[in-house]
Amino acid sequence: MSPYSRITGTGSYLPPRRLSNAELAAELATQGVETSDDWIVERTGIRARHFADPGVCSSDLGAQAARNALQAAGLEARDIDLIIVATSTPDMVFPSAACILQSKLGIGGCAAFDVQAVCSGFVYALTIADALIKTGSATKALVIGAEVFSRILDFSDRTTCVLFGDGAGAVVLEASQTPGILASDLHADGKHVGILCVPGTVSGGKVLGDPLLKMDGQAVFKLAVGVLEDAARATLAKAGLQESDIDWLVPHQANIRIMQSTAKKLKMSMDKVIVTVDQHGNTSAASIPLALDVAVRSGKVKKGETLLLEGVGGGFTWGAVLLNL
Ligand code: UT7
Repeated sequence: MSPYSRITGTGSYLPPRRLSNAELAAELATQGVETSDDWIVERTGIRARHFADPGVCSSDLGAQAARNALQAAGLEARDIDLIIVATSTPDMVFPSAACILQSKLGIGGCAAFDVQAVCSGFVYALTIADALIKTGSATKALVIGAEVFSRILDFSDRTTCVLFGDGAGAVVLEASQTPGILASDLHADGKHVGILCVPGTVSGGKVLGDPLLKMDGQAVFKLAVGVLEDAARATLAKAGLQESDIDWLVPHQANIRIMQSTAKKLKMSMDKVIVTVDQHGNTSAASIPLALDVAVRSGKVKKGETLLLEGVGGGFTWGAVLLNL
């Protein structure tokens, strides 16, 4: 049994089809939906997003991100003994995207399951993998966030359809004798179910309810800025560290204004915040590992640095993970 778990490789994957705000606005205009690059940039910081082609599933994006993370860790897929996929857009009702992804990696036998905590899914999944490694149930885990949110967007609703994108990010988390994950803090409050949801399901061979995303943006915004500060402070307290010990904040990429507010509350300069929302939009559970991989591969974030990962989203769910890379 190892006392710690540590990230040894990161990877990500974006589907090739990229739409700038102007391109999306032009497509929406043909359906009578009015929006603009100016509005989207000013209110959210988003400039572009990627959409998967029809038939491409979360497990396809996740498998490619996983392959990239395995390569970075210097491992083969057969070395992995745990797969957790955070997703709200799984390929099927069941089996899990994790099982489908496992077969796409050409392996079998290890535990594989999905975690459904919407945009907080990756911090939930990382915390679960850390716990399973610390108890000796796993030694080398793939933790993946993968989404095709374009499938659940209502393209007649301009208040939501301009915000989200598709993509995947992954990390390899390995048992370690030196500290990697230092502390985490997870929460949910189900009384806010209605402010961000896809209120549909499958029943009797039909879709029951509405299978498209609904969001009260202002309510989510207000809750998000409060809970993200609380989660950051709780995680730091558990690890016995201060705000000034954080080298990089890697927040869920929903809105640049939420990130600016969190950074201000934690007295961090925006230079210390990893921002990819401009290029990816909100990719829900994929956004944090995607941002992390971009930051690692660009050389910005380096081994040995202290990172605070923070997620918030539907449920309402939120949480943070503090780690040494
Ligand atoms: O990933 C899970 C977490 N999700 C989030 O964190 C999202 C949190 N919420 C937000 O990021 C923001 O609330 C939004 C970006 C969703 C909206 O920004 P806002 O500053 O709260 O705008 P608003 O909803 O107050 O809308 C302002 C105006 C409205 O017009 P009126 O009523 O002032 O005339 C909207 O109809 O902007 C209008 N509007 C748009 N205009 C052009 C809303 N969407 C659009 C649009 N294009 N796409």
